[in-house]
Amino acid sequence: MKLKVLFVCLGNICRSPSAEAVFKGYVKKKGVDKSFFIDSAGTYGYHEGEPADRRMQRHAIKRGYNLTSISRPFNPNTDWDEFDYIIGMDDSNMRNLADMARNKDDLKKLYMMTDFSKNYNHTEVPDPYYGGDQGFELVLDLLEDASEGLYNQIQ
Ligand code: 4NP
Repeated sequence: MKLKVLFVCLGNICRSPSAEAVFKGYVKKKGVDKSFFIDSAGTYGYHEGEPADRRMQRHAIKRGYNLTSISRPFNPNTDWDEFDYIIGMDDSNMRNLADMARNKDDLKKLYMMTDFSKNYNHTEVPDPYYGGDQGFELVLDLLEDASEGLYNQIQ
């Protein structure tokens, strides 16, 4: 049985596609990628069908992450059942996801990415969409750090 992890942000074009790629890279490096199914989604369907934001792709590729996912909205009718861990990037994502939970068991699967941070005190992965290069780099820094913490928690 694979452990199924879904990363969720607002648009599913910046943070959660990056989280998906960073965590996939981490479990691959550990040699356990066959034990995981890793995906991403957005709480908002506006960018559905689009590849990741070009700025995010450009920053990610510099660190060796190829962002291949295509934006899709979170589906409360299937995603709560399919995944073991559903991980939001900021407080707004967490509120939107909690609002879409159908029951208490759904909520037990809901986690905040920065709760797995080891070296950062940020309480959210900030939305980089309207900012500059630094915001995209911070997203990757936070995701790399929290991926390690997430993996350790799952083990
Ligand atoms: P993401 O970033 O939630 O990390 O994918 C955003 C993408 C799009 C928008 C906002 C944030 N938007 O307003 O369209």
